[in-house]
Amino acid sequence: MIPLDTLRARYLEGIRAAADEAALEELRLAALGKKGEVALLMRELGKMSPEERQTIGKSLNELKDEIDALLRARKAAFADAALDERLKAEWLDVTLPGRPRRMGTIHPVSQVMEECSAIFADMGFRVAEGPQIETDWYNFDALNIAPEHPARQEHDTFFMHRAEGDARPPHVLRTHTSPVQIRAMLDQGAPIRVIAPGRVYRMDMDQTHTPMFHQIEGMAIDRDISMANLKWVLEEFFSAYFGTKVKTRFRASHFPFTEPSAEVDIQCSWVGGQLKVGEGDGWLEVLGSGMMHPKVLQAGGIDPNEWQGFAFGMGIDRMAMLKYGIPDLRAFFESDLRWLRHYGFGALDAPSIHAG
Ligand code: PHE
Repeated sequence: MIPLDTLRARYLEGIRAAADEAALEELRLAALGKKGEVALLMRELGKMSPEERQTIGKSLNELKDEIDALLRARKAAFADAALDERLKAEWLDVTLPGRPRRMGTIHPVSQVMEECSAIFADMGFRVAEGPQIETDWYNFDALNIAPEHPARQEHDTFFMHRAEGDARPPHVLRTHTSPVQIRAMLDQGAPIRVIAPGRVYRMDMDQTHTPMFHQIEGMAIDRDISMANLKWVLEEFFSAYFGTKVKTRFRASHFPFTEPSAEVDIQCSWVGGQLKVGEGDGWLEVLGSGMMHPKVLQAGGIDPNEWQGFAFGMGIDRMAMLKYGIPDLRAFFESDLRWLRHYGFGALDAPSIHAG
């Protein structure tokens, strides 16, 4: 029989010197495996005398435990080292700046709505909203648009389908944002200051008209609101929006829901086919406005003997074209990625009164 000390020295040294887990496993099998040296010696015990068996058996067991313990310890050390290696290899500097990836762009119309909202918010106007599918009443009657008014005719207005035999007037795709005036008044009462940006629809299609476009409605009601307030608010708005002092010109006009009514032009110049807002002696029509008609206030549940207000409605798409030099309105709604990349805005450039 090989002296146990020789076995011990061989295995313990071998295990200490093992280069990897595979080498450890080989040693384990050689010593403790079914046909390993220690296991074979254990089998010899049966042939020994009881006294021999006691002492040698004990020593063998101790040797087996010793080898086993050292194997486990070395195995754990290899695992730790492997983890350290991996942590080193997979180390990541989370403080490095990210690689910017442009995820789409903000459409100029959305951008301009945000810009307008920011400017009007600064003057105390809240944003109000209404549905794009409106009832006949909100879109027309409540705004003092008589049943025979041409704006109601099929060629201007998109009417929703009605089930056969349904006698109620059909819903319409709202033709302007003015019905939000009524909804806001009924909702909030007076005094009130709101703007209402949103989509509107008319049957119209050429280079400067699309069947869907965007407006922004404005309305202020208080005890002594006048046209002077309207003019100040609009000039303040245009100057903030275009970043330069902009003069306005009011021309007498007619809307069923305002009295008096005015169309408003902004000052501009045409030089070499280039349009510049806020200079020169040309004029460009940009909105309709006026003092709210008493019947409209009434429809909104507000007493016209106590309150008065101004209202205006402006095309947003036109405002975007003017500010950002976009020539064709139809391209706004063609979803051409090249156009969007060119005219779009970064998702994180939030508009403000300072940054525009
Ligand atoms: N609703 C009108 C239009 O769409 C604009 C307008 C709004 C005029 C409010 C006066 C007052 O043309």
